Amino acid sequence: MTNQMREKQDLEERLKPFGQEHLLQFWDELSPPQRQALASQIEAVDLGQINSLFRGEVDQPDWAQLSRRAEPPPAVRLSEQSGDRNQAAIEHGIEALRAGQVGVMITAGGQGTRLGFELPKSLYPIGPISQASLLQIHIEKVRATAQRYGVSIPLYLMTSPATHEDTVRFLNENDRFGLAADDLLVFCQGTMPAVDIETGQLLLAEQDRLFLSPDGHGGTVAALGKSGVLERMQKRGIDQLFYLQVDNPLVPICDPLLIGHHLLANSEMTSLTVQKKHAMEKWGNFAMIDGHMHVIEYSDLPDEVANQCDDLGNLKLWAGSLAIHVFERTLFERALEKTDILPFHIARKKVPFVNPDGKQVTPTEPNAFKFERFIFDLLPAAERPLVVEYREEECFAPLKNAPGAEIDTPEYVQQMMLAQHKRWLTAAGAEVAPGVDVEISPLFALDAEQVVERIKPGQRFEKSQYLAEGT
Ligand code: UD1
Repeated sequence: MTNQMREKQDLEERLKPFGQEHLLQFWDELSPPQRQALASQIEAVDLGQINSLFRGEVDQPDWAQLSRRAEPPPAVRLSEQSGDRNQAAIEHGIEALRAGQVGVMITAGGQGTRLGFELPKSLYPIGPISQASLLQIHIEKVRATAQRYGVSIPLYLMTSPATHEDTVRFLNENDRFGLAADDLLVFCQGTMPAVDIETGQLLLAEQDRLFLSPDGHGGTVAALGKSGVLERMQKRGIDQLFYLQVDNPLVPICDPLLIGHHLLANSEMTSLTVQKKHAMEKWGNFAMIDGHMHVIEYSDLPDEVANQCDDLGNLKLWAGSLAIHVFERTLFERALEKTDILPFHIARKKVPFVNPDGKQVTPTEPNAFKFERFIFDLLPAAERPLVVEYREEECFAPLKNAPGAEIDTPEYVQQMMLAQHKRWLTAAGAEVAPGVDVEISPLFALDAEQVVERIKPGQRFEKSQYLAEGT
């Protein structure tokens, strides 16, 4: 028997117990490099796991049922953010930053497809005047925070196979936007195959290629372990990680208030929250169920539960999740010791595939299950979880949709950025002429407090401009 035949036979033996031999249906027509590529993709898939996910052996929680006994989460509300305890929290946060114990973690695995943008979403030029990319804005915040506290702050950037190369090239071409090489670690998340809804068979994207997609932002946990990043964090003495997703340029990265309450409460996972404006807000919901904190996605929350109010007529489940968290590093370490700490969420999607005749099929109805893990599913395992309330306009403007869509468009995000910068300038005593737009680089000022230090009282802004570093 030739090596080639033996390879096919080995693969068949591997696939057969799971009914997946169809993956080799075009094998004999493939070139040796194509065979090699397909074989290594098949070998990387945990077929037993996919099989049990499809068979529903790993049960999906019944959120409709569970949410009926959900209670609001332990929270630091806006009304409590004055006084000694709050001041102590801010000081704790600053202390941890100054001691170099805090790192930043950004997930940037998403493509700009929904935005009509061909590159990774993180490269989208969102700066209303500067045209700075999402990534540049986040990196400048990290650098500005590091300068403010006289330390270096490492940035751990997670890409996906679809975004990795373009992201790395963009960072290199722009000298990492000034971030020291030692302070940037880019690592790639894993993938999961999609399976046919009826049969559970893996779908082929091409005759020689499985259909694979990123394993969700929950893939962060496995990727941190596999890439050795977690170990490097530990060696560097990074105990706390400020986590965000790349699509929101308003994130108050490393805000001492959030880090400080997290430390003061000795929490393993503290999340930023915003009060929902109405019951149907399309956000995840922080809730306590049987003594553990969870995020219940809006799509899983029955209307009558979402509409429940307390005695004062306020929404009972008021706390929206914006995907901004502070983690104690040890929570990731514990999570990695257990293989199934993060459950898979199963979604029905339209996935193009190659049929047995070798033809490309573009389905018009959902034909496949996709499997994703979510980072917020670490919450139930976290000790003393907590949420800290912020004002929406100071922390949230996600870029999700193409220009002209109803919500979360580039125009909306840019308006939110400009409105925030205008508020900071006017609060510092500046005058911004009507119709004038001023964009502030994080390296000019990180927040309202720093704007006061950087401008003259009564300063007038007569024309639209970008206040860059050193302006
Ligand atoms: C998410 C949250 C929702 C929250 C909302 C706020 C989920 C399932 N829902 O919704 O609770 O209220 O944000 O904006 O997360 N990403 C990766 N790799 C992946 C998947 C995602 O890096 O495999 C990153 C990307 O940077 C992406 C971001 O996560 O931009 C958001 O993920 P997405 O799936 O778009 O979640 P949303 O539907 O926006």
